Amino acid sequence: MRRIRMPGDKSVTQRALIFASLASGESRLRGLLPGEDPQATARALRDLGVDIPPLVGNGTEVRIQGVGLRGLQEPHDVLDFENSGTGARLMLGVLAGQPMTVTVTGDASLRVRPMRRVTTPLSKMGAVFREMDGSDRLPLEVTGGPLDAIDYNSPVASAQVKSAVLLAGLVGGAFVFVSEPHRSRDHTELMLSTCGVPVISHEVDGLWKVELRDPPECIAPLDLEVPGDFSSSAFFLALAILGGMEGGLEIDHVGMNPTRRGLLDVLHRMGAKVGADPFDEDGGEPVSSLRALPSKLVATKVGGNEVPAMIDEFPVMAILAARAEGVTSITGASELRLKESDRIKTLAENLRAVGVKAEELSDGLEIEGGDHPLVGRVSSHNDHRIAMAFGVLGALEGNQIDIDGADVADVSFPNFWGLLEDLART
Ligand code: S3P
Repeated sequence: MRRIRMPGDKSVTQRALIFASLASGESRLRGLLPGEDPQATARALRDLGVDIPPLVGNGTEVRIQGVGLRGLQEPHDVLDFENSGTGARLMLGVLAGQPMTVTVTGDASLRVRPMRRVTTPLSKMGAVFREMDGSDRLPLEVTGGPLDAIDYNSPVASAQVKSAVLLAGLVGGAFVFVSEPHRSRDHTELMLSTCGVPVISHEVDGLWKVELRDPPECIAPLDLEVPGDFSSSAFFLALAILGGMEGGLEIDHVGMNPTRRGLLDVLHRMGAKVGADPFDEDGGEPVSSLRALPSKLVATKVGGNEVPAMIDEFPVMAILAARAEGVTSITGASELRLKESDRIKTLAENLRAVGVKAEELSDGLEIEGGDHPLVGRVSSHNDHRIAMAFGVLGALEGNQIDIDGADVADVSFPNFWGLLEDLART
């Protein structure tokens, strides 16, 4: 049994950088992910006047002196969030509450992703946005200030939308009620509580509702060990389950937030031998060790309520389905079209390019599994999780997959390729 640890959770790292910057006092953060996405958010926060040390990722504790909820300074230049949708959307919420004008942009992939999903509620609260090319896309100019209360019913289950609105309420001093059709990841709510800001979350009439009733004047700093990223772990769980490495695998200190670990239920249904130790808690987040053994998989159906808690796991789910017996169907996942790439299209094209029968649905995919050798060339489409999923598939015995744009894995997982080479059998 090989034992490994994963880099820090990307969602928690992004939020930790933002909350530490807005706190009153010094935060101490350990285990931050030094991937390209958090680096872009850290750079943007530095441009806004926060002194953030380099994120080096060798276990060094990062100390950040917060500037307070309304202490950010107007940057000299455009803020560029590169590939990071979470960084851009959450910071649009923060900037909506700051009395200054800032232009926000991103790389080519982020500049085709929708932004009105956050600017619509933030405009209702009183922030002013100028769409620089008149579309639902970056670049955007935001002018913020004190905000009005909002009761917002989000049409999509999106933690980025929910978090942008909560952060706007926090910084702009406004009551926030935000509901979503299914519960999305709740790292923002947990971190607000850790910083001393009570939030109430509950189900009302089939919707998931979060309330920030009492926006405070200041928030407490963090003392936090970021858990290993469940989504990064999923790639190596898949490698072990599919027999791509010698024996089994144990991954220590993985974030096991129930709004993130939905893939585990699906894996059990498919017959995968995966298990977790009893949970501990770190900074409000459950953590545990995960174990996986080589397993024979059967196809399954995934959809509906299950989607939000595994929204980032569909690339790895697709390659598990490609090696399972039978046809796996994924539905109710049209949000996948709006990720770092159109993941429905990208997955279907790439699976077919290596010899897997895969059909694109408007809101998902059908994938016929098998055990014949898979050979071909695919493209990452500048999407880190697509690159890593096909990396795992290509590392299985008998398969030979070339990946164009594999370096993009650094967005969430520095040294993914080194670890894969170290663990993989071939
Ligand atoms: C994230 C939320 C999810 C997820 C993304 C990270 C976050 O996006 O896909 O990788 O940290 O809030 P949506 O909230 O848009 O579904």
